[in-house]
Amino acid sequence: MDEIIVTGGRPLAGSVRASGSKNGALPLLAASLLIDGTTVIDNLPDIHDVATMINMLRALGAKCDFIGPTKLRIDASNITSVAAPYELVRMMRASFYVAGPLLARFGECEVPLPGGCVIGSRPVDFHIQGFKALGADVTEKHGVVRATASRLRGTRIFMDPRLRSVGATVNIMLASVLAEGTTIIENASREPEVFACQDFLVRCGARIEGIGSATVVIEGVDKLHEADVRAIGDRMETGTFLYAAAVAGGDITVEDCRPDHMEIILDVLRRAGAGVTTGEDWIRLRAVGRPLPVDVMTAPYPGFPTDLQPTHGVLGAVARGTTIIEETIFDARFNYTDELARMGAHIRIVDSAAIIKGQPKLYAAPVEATDIRAGAALVIAGLAAEGQTEISGATFLDRGYDNIEAKLAALGAEITRRSDAQSRKPLCLA
Ligand code: EPZ
Repeated sequence: MDEIIVTGGRPLAGSVRASGSKNGALPLLAASLLIDGTTVIDNLPDIHDVATMINMLRALGAKCDFIGPTKLRIDASNITSVAAPYELVRMMRASFYVAGPLLARFGECEVPLPGGCVIGSRPVDFHIQGFKALGADVTEKHGVVRATASRLRGTRIFMDPRLRSVGATVNIMLASVLAEGTTIIENASREPEVFACQDFLVRCGARIEGIGSATVVIEGVDKLHEADVRAIGDRMETGTFLYAAAVAGGDITVEDCRPDHMEIILDVLRRAGAGVTTGEDWIRLRAVGRPLPVDVMTAPYPGFPTDLQPTHGVLGAVARGTTIIEETIFDARFNYTDELARMGAHIRIVDSAAIIKGQPKLYAAPVEATDIRAGAALVIAGLAAEGQTEISGATFLDRGYDNIEAKLAALGAEITRRSDAQSRKPLCLA
């Protein structure tokens, strides 16, 4: 597995462009299965998860061709299979998004249960409950979910109000846009990436009210038509760069991003002592010296995003005081703290909270990334640590970050990759 080597102690300076959102692109790619025709998606990030989803679409019979560096044309007019291959589903949980559109358009789907991962158990019971509520007959046998329905029928579906599942909202929405009658999704996820998918579906002829709100009303239609779409800027990648500058110090600008999707994150960074200014599609952050401690509790949008919880943990590790982080979304998202402790962080986990006593310095140590966001947090810790930090498991980063080391190096970071060349190239761009 690749290693990323970071030499700490240098402030960041300059500007960097945010890539398209991983969590915004994946629902759009799955939604293209609903269209008996062509969808063009632009601003796709060059990351493994997008490559995996493109291979999934190809496995189902869609023709996928890049017509630009970040622009993909998908022709889903000749889908030849409704069975998602296990070897792809096991690589990425979001592969399960293909279930809804296949069920909606073809009346059936066979999708293996996605595995859990290190951040916690990640069942798909909400997705399955939604399909059943829409009238599908759903069985789970030998690790495969099979669903059939002559035609789905609209109904009222109550999502878990505390968790407001992103994936289940997407999958149920993709299933219901072609259903007979009206579907009302209560306590729907309001994440910008879900909003962007809803907006795309409306531009394809779907009838959706309450876009971006917690109550989404979908009037089923017989068919959707072609439309083009551009993935929104990745707020997690943007947040990662902002946290990097807040922890290592410096003055950076992130371009082609969406400050309007990041208000709570910018508020937290300002309370940590950073100077933050924004324009329509850019954010500038200036930071000098150790940050101030800021307590956070993760929550569904517009709350503080769980995907930036690990990076906030690094800020807490060097803050001038004690930080309390409460993780309410996943049951095992503090794995990265053991690795931070190897670098000198003082962190205690009590139930679903991390109590972090800020230290004047972190020290380089060999550490291991265990998931996408934990990996990003360790890179940020390496930027602030004294010495050279070696981070193994860098391929996790490639699942969700588009050339992170090149972007950080452009901001002045001393960062390189010790690579097994084969493991770097995304699958479908080979
Ligand atoms: C999406 O995952 C994101 N992934 C995650 O980002 C993100 O952390 C998560 O939403 C929460 O914001 C993508 O968008 C591709 P959920 P998802 O369904 O949809 C439980 C990253 O690093 N749950 O909102 O899988 C679940 O276990 C990734 O980019 C059920 O119990 O998350 C969790 O505790 C990591 N049953 C909570 O709900 C279900 O059927 C929220 O999960 C579904 C979810």
